[in-house]
Amino acid sequence: MKIRTVFVGLVAATFSMMALAQAPIIIKFSHVVAADTPKGKGSEFFAKKAAELTKGKVKVEVYANSTLYKDKEEMEALQLGAVQMLAPSLAKFGPLGVKEFELFDLPYLFDDYKELHAVTAGPVGKSLFQKLETKGLVGLAFWDNGFKVMSANKPIRNPDDYKGLKMRIQSSNVLDAQMRALGSIPQKMAFSEVYQALQTGVVDGTENPPSNLYTQKMHEVQKYVALTNHGYLGYAVITNKKFWEGLPTDVRSALETAMVEATKYANQIAKEENDKAMDEVRKSGKSEIITLTPAQKTAMKKALLKVHDQMASRIGKENIDTIYKATGFDPSKF
Ligand code: LMR
Repeated sequence: MKIRTVFVGLVAATFSMMALAQAPIIIKFSHVVAADTPKGKGSEFFAKKAAELTKGKVKVEVYANSTLYKDKEEMEALQLGAVQMLAPSLAKFGPLGVKEFELFDLPYLFDDYKELHAVTAGPVGKSLFQKLETKGLVGLAFWDNGFKVMSANKPIRNPDDYKGLKMRIQSSNVLDAQMRALGSIPQKMAFSEVYQALQTGVVDGTENPPSNLYTQKMHEVQKYVALTNHGYLGYAVITNKKFWEGLPTDVRSALETAMVEATKYANQIAKEENDKAMDEVRKSGKSEIITLTPAQKTAMKKALLKVHDQMASRIGKENIDTIYKATGFDPSKF
């Protein structure tokens, strides 16, 4: 009887050890936007590819729409190891002590995705990822969202129209300077709080690519959307360095391949997703869409260019010069 009990116990222990050995590695991937956005779809694509290429050794759990953590909390959670992957907007790295990421927020710096990719794939992109390592993080990829529109409850065509408006921004000092250059009052706020803040009048307006505006229904509480395309919003996919380096080599290399494929996919759909979202906003008839005249565009550029100089010491004059060269940006043309 005793021997039998020991035997049964041994079998049970062996089975549970086998189960443990086969239990997948869980990667919690937390983000703050809707599933139906470039980042939402990119992260789901990565989850699928990761399962496929690791043959089930990794399970990526995607938590969209701030369901797990909000902006600031998710950064802390990653550093503490409570989540393993995030894709925060490039405007959100300042509080982490890597303020140079805010260079992507400089108004009118990038004309299109091609110029942007020349920078993320070049020396500036590399040096930004090196800086992350000192914070215990690894940068895995840059993912696109798109070019931002402005919204408010009054027509916003010229710089003067922004005077006195309380404008929600992400946690970037470059965006703070941008809104001040227009005479508005910037309010840093977590993405998850924006809809309600707009609805209740805590803020008067905001900026975001159409995909975020539409999927958060911001257009339903904003009477005007101006097609300013004044700045870019994209992401860095990041992971915890200790976690990443602790993965078995074959698993890590499969995940790297999954990330390359997910990046290709996310960047391919970004423009289309934003164009579709803008069409939906237009069709909804909830906000009036403002297309700026060439003179209004020039006035906006003139008002905002000074932010490049104002922020040079924060994000590095040499970074700005390298980007000007890579994109062909010529400040004297303004
Ligand atoms: C925002 O806070 O406006 C955006 O960064 C949200 C996002 O992740 O796209």
